[in-house]
Amino acid sequence: MFDFDAPIDRRNTHALKWDMMESLYGVSPEDGIAMWVADMDFRPPPSVDAALSAAVAHGVYGYFGDDRAYKAAITGWMQRRHGWEVEPAAIATTHGVVAGLALCIQAFTEPGDGVIIFSPVYHAFSRVIRANGRALVESPLVVREDGRYAMDLAALGATLTGRERMVVLCSPHNPGGRVWSREELRELADFCVVHDLLLVSDEIHHDLILAGDRHVPMPLAAPEILDRMVVLSSTSKTFNVAGGLTGNVIVPDEALRQRFAAAHLAAGATPNRFGVVVATAAYEGGDAWLDALNRYLAGNAAILAEGVASIPGVRAMPLDSTYLAWVDFAGTGMVPEEFTARVERDARIAPSHGHTFGTGGETFLRFNIATPRARVVEAVRRLQAAFADLQ
Ligand SMILES: Cc1ncc(COP(=O)(O)O)c(C=O)c1O
Repeated sequence: MFDFDAPIDRRNTHALKWDMMESLYGVSPEDGIAMWVADMDFRPPPSVDAALSAAVAHGVYGYFGDDRAYKAAITGWMQRRHGWEVEPAAIATTHGVVAGLALCIQAFTEPGDGVIIFSPVYHAFSRVIRANGRALVESPLVVREDGRYAMDLAALGATLTGRERMVVLCSPHNPGGRVWSREELRELADFCVVHDLLLVSDEIHHDLILAGDRHVPMPLAAPEILDRMVVLSSTSKTFNVAGGLTGNVIVPDEALRQRFAAAHLAAGATPNRFGVVVATAAYEGGDAWLDALNRYLAGNAAILAEGVASIPGVRAMPLDSTYLAWVDFAGTGMVPEEFTARVERDARIAPSHGHTFGTGGETFLRFNIATPRARVVEAVRRLQAAFADLQ
């Protein structure tokens, strides 16, 4: 019903992933494969195209007003897909999730305060924390016996200074692909109470569940800490509409909501008409498309994982969520410069570099598998050829 196999040429369309690849990686889009930036090489749900076409047919693009349908679309989605009742008044619309996180940092912490992240994690977290003059506190994830990441709260607790104010969790986790269990989320919530921390849960990947556990929204895992919790969400990853830069900061607690609203007002930001139109249409009409997408992504993830597992010393972490395969080259014994050169120069693939995700990412590369299957198969073939001497 939805054709994810159809190749779409994104070159020369201002696609960050394809049109910046040559200047940043030296990999030509003529024969290279872009697997870095986290967007998909797919069209969005048909409901999004229909809404944008209707907007173009009407043809007037003035300021946006009356967000009731937008908020109803969000609350309906959260209720239907996640069993989570969201109060419309708790939702603030920002220019994307990273912008929402930056506003949370400004609203809820002071310069010099510590903000904790579980590394390796999505690189923009450390970037905005540092850019806002807050102290970055990295809590390295540990690898469990089943090859998945786990938080080490005991180790983190032992290093705290008392200057930490906030934890930023990536749930599900990018780049590890973890869907945190209810128990893990509860342990983190307890930790936040003990150490008096505000918890910002970035759940942008929560709809992309390929295997394993069901995602638990933080407010359902730990309803007793709603007075110290903020959830970030968006349609951008779920429906491949990241260019619309429209995200949501969901603040259940009234006092925190007022502090957030003050920071939002100070930034002078109001909603982008196009982002709101897209997000509303996606939430209203994207269910069947998303179910099909998740099945397709699970197939791609399996092809990549099995393909790289045939290279001695290379392993992909189990990918339970996201479309971002986190591949460890440690077992090859190669330094990052060497395995990266083989991937970029020999295989002509542009992945994300592991070290940019912080401590613990150094021996990894991240491969975006949200592309037609034939391209994933070709990427695997090229990777196997680039490391053929290890066989
Ligand atoms: C965890 C996480 N948060 C936020 C973003 C980006 O959100 P936005 O484009 O809405 O700022 C990404 C993109 O990859 C992400 O992985």
